[in-house]
Formats: sequence, C-alpha cells, structure tokens
Amino acid sequence: MAHSSPEPPDRSTGSAARNTRRPRHRPDTGPAIRIREEKRPMKRRRTRILALAATALAVLAGIVYVQGPAEAATTRYEAENATISQGVVESNHLGFSGTGFVDYNNVAGSFVQFTVTAGSSGPQSLAFRYANGSTANRPMDIAVNGTVVSAGLAFNPTTDWDTWATVTINATLNAGSNTVRATATGAAGGPNLDRLRVSIPTDTVRPTPPGQPVCSNIMDTSLTLTWGASTDNVGVVAYDIFHD
Ligand code: GCU
Repeated sequence: MAHSSPEPPDRSTGSAARNTRRPRHRPDTGPAIRIREEKRPMKRRRTRILALAATALAVLAGIVYVQGPAEAATTRYEAENATISQGVVESNHLGFSGTGFVDYNNVAGSFVQFTVTAGSSGPQSLAFRYANGSTANRPMDIAVNGTVVSAGLAFNPTTDWDTWATVTINATLNAGSNTVRATATGAAGGPNLDRLRVSIPTDTVRPTPPGQPVCSNIMDTSLTLTWGASTDNVGVVAYDIFHD
C-alpha cells in the first residue's frame, strides 16, 4: 500500500494491520532521524520509522503515521477476589460473574482495589461491570498505581440490582503489576461491582497528521529529516515514510 499524503492507514488492510505491536508510544515532540542514501530506487519505497528511531531511506515523498492494532488479550478480574475496603462480597442478585460481586458500603471512601498485570507498559482499556439499582449516579474515582486517572466516573442507574452495565476508560499501565482502585466519592457509596476487564483499547480515533517533513544537514550521502509528531489518544507506534 502506498500513501503519499498524511492520511491514516485503513486498520483492516493498511499498514496498521502489518504491525503486530501494540500501541505504546506517544511522542511529545517530532522525531529526528538521520537519513543515509545508499542507492536511488526506481520504484516508490516505504520506510518504517519506529517513533523516535531511525533507519535508512532515500528521497522523501510523503509520510503517514501508524496506529497500533488491537490485540485480543483480555483479562477479567473478579471484584470478589480483589482487595475490599468498606464493602462486602454478596451474591444475592442475578447475573453476576464468578462467585459474587462487591456491595460497597453506603459511605464515601469505600473502595475495591484490583491487582492487574500488564505484559508491557502502555494504554489499556479498563471496563468495570456494575449494577446500580438506585435512582442516582454512584460516582467513583478510578486510580491507577495511586494516581487518579478518572475522577468522579459516573456509574449511573441500571434500572435494578440484577441489571449490569459496563463503564470503560483507557489508562496507561506499567509493565508488570499495577493497582486499579475504584473509590466511591458519594455518601451512597459505590454501585455493586462485579468485575474489571482489562484489554487493549479499541482505537477508533485517528491520530493527528504528522507535520511536513523538513530536511537539514544535507550532505552528499545523508541528511537529517524532522517532522512534527502525530498525537493520539491511544498512541503512535511508528511512521511510514514514502520515497521515490
Ligand atoms: C440494596 C441492594 C444492594 C445494594 C444496596 C445499595 O440493598 O440489595 O445490593 O448494594 O441496595 O444501595 O448499595
């Protein structure tokens, strides 16, 4: 596939589909690479630049970014197996998974804390399955490794205590062990919490187009190429540079 303009790849067939790495990098500033020309190819070629990494290429014609693809890996953590503060494990309603769910005490500060293992650092989808048979929101602060990543996340009514819904956020996890804590912020406490599902986020938002590349340090056989970085809600893992 050849791109000559900064359009995002088609995730199903484009360059993202060729990249099996998960999204993990969000450069704050534009990459800078050193280019060394070995020969002048006749047909158009593509060079993949991992974010902030360098490789060889010839004459520049265009640049696109690469989004990381979704991976299937999903892990479920049952609330009844997590660390519970000011809550009890119950099984007196229908439809929960595992052996029960956590009934938060009706008090602010009650929490459930999961220990979550991630294979590598990067964004993850955190999906909380809950029931709220009351008529009011039961907001909770979501903290990852002690830092609140979503304050007052809404856990709105689900009609009754047998009806479960899922609230999902994206958050960055470290490689290895992480804590994910859901703390009730209102006097009514949290909802009934069934489980946390952790998976690679579905990436539906396109990164911003990268900036126009600029050449500098032009020598006989090399030059330096810089461009404005793409930004993305999930992450940019690489850039494809097309050249003649
Ligand atoms: C009811 C319900 C509980 C729920 C509680 C609450 O008692 O049976 O499962 O946790 O309301 O308001 O939190």
